[in-house]
Amino acid sequence: MSEVLSRREFLASTAVGLAATTALEIPHPMRPPRPLPPQSRWAAKPVVVSSANGLRAVQKAFDMLMQGADTLDAAIEGVKIQELDPNDDSVGYGGLPNADGVVQLDASCMHGPTKRAGAVGALEGIKTPSEVAKLVLKYTNHIFLVGEGAKRFALQYCFKEEDLLTEHAREVWLHWRANLNPDDDYLDVPEAEHMAVRPTGTINCDCVTPAGDVSSVTTTSGLAFKVPGRVGDSPIVGAGQYTDNDIGAAGSTGRGESNIKVCGGFLTVEHMRRGMKPADACLETLKRVVKLSEARLLDERGRPRFDLKFYAVNKRGEFGAASLFPGRFAVHDGTEAKLMDAAYLYERPAASR
Ligand code: GLY
Repeated sequence: MSEVLSRREFLASTAVGLAATTALEIPHPMRPPRPLPPQSRWAAKPVVVSSANGLRAVQKAFDMLMQGADTLDAAIEGVKIQELDPNDDSVGYGGLPNADGVVQLDASCMHGPTKRAGAVGALEGIKTPSEVAKLVLKYTNHIFLVGEGAKRFALQYCFKEEDLLTEHAREVWLHWRANLNPDDDYLDVPEAEHMAVRPTGTINCDCVTPAGDVSSVTTTSGLAFKVPGRVGDSPIVGAGQYTDNDIGAAGSTGRGESNIKVCGGFLTVEHMRRGMKPADACLETLKRVVKLSEARLLDERGRPRFDLKFYAVNKRGEFGAASLFPGRFAVHDGTEAKLMDAAYLYERPAASR
């Protein structure tokens, strides 16, 4: 037994564990943390999987699982680290804005034990859309709030309205706008890095507790410089993420429009329902994505000009990820938070778009 696992058992069975449990601060918890049973009675190998920007998320979420936190509470507190980080320009505060220079955020989540879902789209002025999605899930009879209504809902729960556009993100947007059209009235900025690839960075996080309870969350600022009002896959339950507590969870990052068409989160969970291992299920979903891609999105050899990744866990705590092109993902499986290589379909990326 590893040192990590021994400590886990120690925490679970002593007053120290209980003290750590009660010290956890979780806004609007799905349930209060509770001591873990002895490891011999665990139904699953606890695990947290995330996109490659989620190393801190998997560490935080795994620590919370080991303190007896609820599966979704752990996932949300994990991705909030990235949402609050001004240096991640694909998620939350500091995310790259839409074509008008306005940051619009999307997020969705699912909680296996209660079979609930929540989502927000095109949310402005609130740094942590994943948390707002959880409140939609927890406190309403609805699943998806958008725009102004989503913001008013968040303000009712004491979220603070803030300017989400950092100086860095504003500068990147201004350069993009200046270089967009050589004939417009904005002079080109030749020294600016040309953005041939518009980022669609995002964070997905999927958790399995020792009891085998599963959850998922995906949160993003979406495609950089998008048409105002555009929402991608992240806030769409069944696309950006999906959970079935009997099977597992899956989520996605990358070109949202390509995922929406295959309902990729749902499809990946369905592949696992039919017996596929998580990485194989993700690969199978990517094959469907390629099949459903319009010709303009494929290169001369039929390979996508975009990237897309899926991440998955099953109820037993097995995990995996797959990408169209070589890529990595973050995981904490009880040893340490680490990056691992994802399975992939194509050896070399085509020119992206
Ligand atoms: N997958 C993130 C987006 O397309 O908005």
